[in-house]
Amino acid sequence: MTHYTGLINNYRSRLPIADGVEAIELGEGQTPLIKLRNIPSKLGIDAEIYVKFEGLNITGSFKDRGMTMAVTAAVADGAKAIICASTGNTSAAAAAYAARAGIKAFVLIPEGKIAMGKLAQAMIHGCEIIQIEGNFDDGMRLVKEVAEHAPVTIVNSINPYRLQGQKTAAFEVVDELGDAPDYHCLPVGNAGNISGYWLGYSEYAGTSAEDSFVINHFKEMEYDRSAKGTKTPTMVGYQAAGAAPFAHGEMVDNPETVATAIRIGHPQSWDLAHAVEKESGGWFDALSDEEILAAQKLLAQSEGVFCEPASATSLAGALRDLKNGRIPQGSRIVCTLTGNGLKDPDTAMAQCSDTPITTVPATLDAVKAAIIG
Ligand code: F0G
Repeated sequence: MTHYTGLINNYRSRLPIADGVEAIELGEGQTPLIKLRNIPSKLGIDAEIYVKFEGLNITGSFKDRGMTMAVTAAVADGAKAIICASTGNTSAAAAAYAARAGIKAFVLIPEGKIAMGKLAQAMIHGCEIIQIEGNFDDGMRLVKEVAEHAPVTIVNSINPYRLQGQKTAAFEVVDELGDAPDYHCLPVGNAGNISGYWLGYSEYAGTSAEDSFVINHFKEMEYDRSAKGTKTPTMVGYQAAGAAPFAHGEMVDNPETVATAIRIGHPQSWDLAHAVEKESGGWFDALSDEEILAAQKLLAQSEGVFCEPASATSLAGALRDLKNGRIPQGSRIVCTLTGNGLKDPDTAMAQCSDTPITTVPATLDAVKAAIIG
């Protein structure tokens, strides 16, 4: 029997966690890489498109990859409390891993702008929730200030262990496909995740610290970086049009989008993300809320995969760039679906307000009539 015990134990030699340190884990990682079978032909696209469904991590988003690392390192360092600002998913993951570790978590969330499922997670895991009358960027600024005065470890993606954990998703893609894809598409908020993936792909490819700002950024950490001889993909980051500092080339003061997970105007990984763009030959672009929601619905109705709105941004962008030729036909593409659709039932329901629900008496005749018409 092989009992899977999470990504730290699976990739420990390639992570900065020493052998003797017990992983605070919840079986995260090893998420499905699902090949689309209906959407390409429906849209007249000739491409091999996979979605990496991170919504199947334990708290329903990719944040678990970074959080198992951040909390394991914090606990090994003697920390008794962690803190983060969040649009919802980071707070859910922080709350769960703090509960698992038996330490305290404080989360700062923007009032009224987090999806119901994510708020429920923070509440049920028993963390301290501080709702602020501001947005994620305000929360992040406050977290950095508070951490200077209180004995709490920040577990946002500025914590270097976070991206170390998130890079394992790239390892999994390569381990499964045999090589990196031609293109890897992601939704971008703070740009931690796109930087984490690039770190993972670059380490497998054996890129040196002199050749990569991203590899160099982590050079103080000790672990195995030996090359696997694989290629690196072109990295493409997609944002929501109302919260698109990378696509527009400048910070955004009042970000707005239905994809609340990526409602971020002042991203934390600005320099790393620009290095990813340059080193991979990739680009950033923006999609309207309508395009994002249409992709979420298309994926749910054509493939049976229900992701949250922010996550659909990666697929929406990839499909648009395939149609306009920026991504060539025949390419092999992986789109990360960062979070589970169940996190945000309100937005899904609002999208389906014209879907008829027939109410009938509980009789065979009535049900037959409803089916046959
Ligand atoms: N997709 C989802 C579902 C997210 O929750 C986030 C970020 C992103 C994409 C963007 O990832 O920031 O690494 O570029 N959510 C953070 C949070 C901000 O607080 O949960 P990024």
